[in-house]
Amino acid sequence: MKKYKVGIVGCGQICKVRHAPEYAENPNTELMGFYDMNPDRAKELAKQYHCQAFDSLEALLTAGPDLVSVCSANTDHARSAIAALEHGCDVLCEKPMAVTLADCEAMLEAAHRTGRRLLIGHNQRLTPAHQEARRLIREGAIGKLLTFHTTFGHGGPESWTGVKDPWFFHRGAAVLGAAADLGIHKIDLINYLTDDLIVEGEAKLLTLDKKLPDGSPIQVDDNAIFLLRTQGGALGVAHASWTFYGQEDNSTVLYGTQGILKLYTDPDYSVILEHADGQVEKFAVGKITTNEEQQAGIRSSTGVIDEFVAAVTEKRPSCLDVDQVIHAMRVVLKAAQ
Ligand SMILES: NC(=O)c1ccc[n+]([C@@H]2O[C@H](COP(=O)([O-])OP(=O)(O)OC[C@H]3O[C@@H](n4cnc5c(N)ncnc54)[C@H](O)[C@@H]3O)[C@@H](O)[C@H]2O)c1
Repeated sequence: MKKYKVGIVGCGQICKVRHAPEYAENPNTELMGFYDMNPDRAKELAKQYHCQAFDSLEALLTAGPDLVSVCSANTDHARSAIAALEHGCDVLCEKPMAVTLADCEAMLEAAHRTGRRLLIGHNQRLTPAHQEARRLIREGAIGKLLTFHTTFGHGGPESWTGVKDPWFFHRGAAVLGAAADLGIHKIDLINYLTDDLIVEGEAKLLTLDKKLPDGSPIQVDDNAIFLLRTQGGALGVAHASWTFYGQEDNSTVLYGTQGILKLYTDPDYSVILEHADGQVEKFAVGKITTNEEQQAGIRSSTGVIDEFVAAVTEKRPSCLDVDQVIHAMRVVLKAAQ
C-alpha cells in the first residue's frame, strides 16, 4: 500500500510527544514536512524526521500532503484545518477544535463540503479504561445513569510546555483557559461513555492562582466548574483545573440505579465497578499517561494517530469524527460565555 504523506502544523509539545512519533511508527504514513510560525521549531523536527521544514502553511499544503495534523495554538485551529481540508487533505486537529462556535461550525461545514475527513484529537475516548467503561455501561452494569463527577486537573500548561509564560495564559491565543483545555476532554468523554448527550451546561470560570511574570492574574480561567444535564436526564459536575499542585487527577465517577463506576480513582485498578448489592469488581486496564510522564519522555501510544489513519484507509466512521465531538464544544463555549 502507498504510504500517506503527512504534514504537521505547529511543532510544540503535542507534536513532539504524540503526533510526530506516532506517525513515524505507523506503517502506513510517512512524515513529509513541518510548519511552525517559529521556524526553528519546524527545522528541528524536520531534521529529526528527515523531511522538510516549510516557511508558511500555504507552502506546506502546496507540497501536497495527504494527511495534516493541526497542533498549533487554539486560535489557529480553524484557519489551518479549513485550509488543509480545502487543499484536499484529511485532517486531525488537536482539541479544543476551535475557540468560537462560529469557527467550530465553519470547520464542520468545510469537512462536509470538501468530503474530507476531520477528526479531533480526543485521546480520552481511546484509553483502555474508558473503552472498558463504555462497554460496561452499554451492558447495563450501572443501570440508568443518574449523576456523575468528572475531573481533569494538573499543575498547568507551564509545566507541560516548559515555558513560564505560555500562550495558554493569554486570551489572544487561547481565548479560554482550563475550561477549554481540560474541560472539553471530560465533557466530551461523558457523551462518549454514556451514549447520552450533554445538552445543558452552566459554568463558573475563575482565575484563582496563576500569575503572569508581572504578577498580574493570567488572562484566562485557571479553574472551571461545569454543572451539566444530559438528554437522558442525568445531572453531573465537571471540574477542569490548572491548580492541582500534586498528583494529576483524571478521574470520573458515574452513579447509576444499579451501581457506581469509578475510573482512574485507584492507581492499580483503572476501572472499579461497585454493584448496588455490595459486590465490587476491579479491572486493571492500564494507567493514563500523565503530563509529567510525557514530558519526561515516557511515552505510550495514545492510539489517536492510528485511529485517524485507519479511519481514512478503511473509509469507516470514527469515534473522533468532528460530527460527534462538536456537541461538547457547543456546551463548553455556550456555558463559558
Ligand atoms: N489531546 C491532548 O491531550 C492535548 C495535550 C496537549 C496539548 N493539546 C493541544 O495541542 C495544541 C498545541 O499545544 P502544545 O501543548 O503543543 O503547545 P506548544 O506551545 O508546545 O506548541 C504550539 C506550537 O504551535 C505554534 N503555533 C502557534 N500558533 C501558530 C500558527 N498560527 N501557525 C503555526 N504555528 C503556530 C507555536 O509556535 C508552537 O510551536 C493546543 O491546541 C493544545 O490544546 C492537546
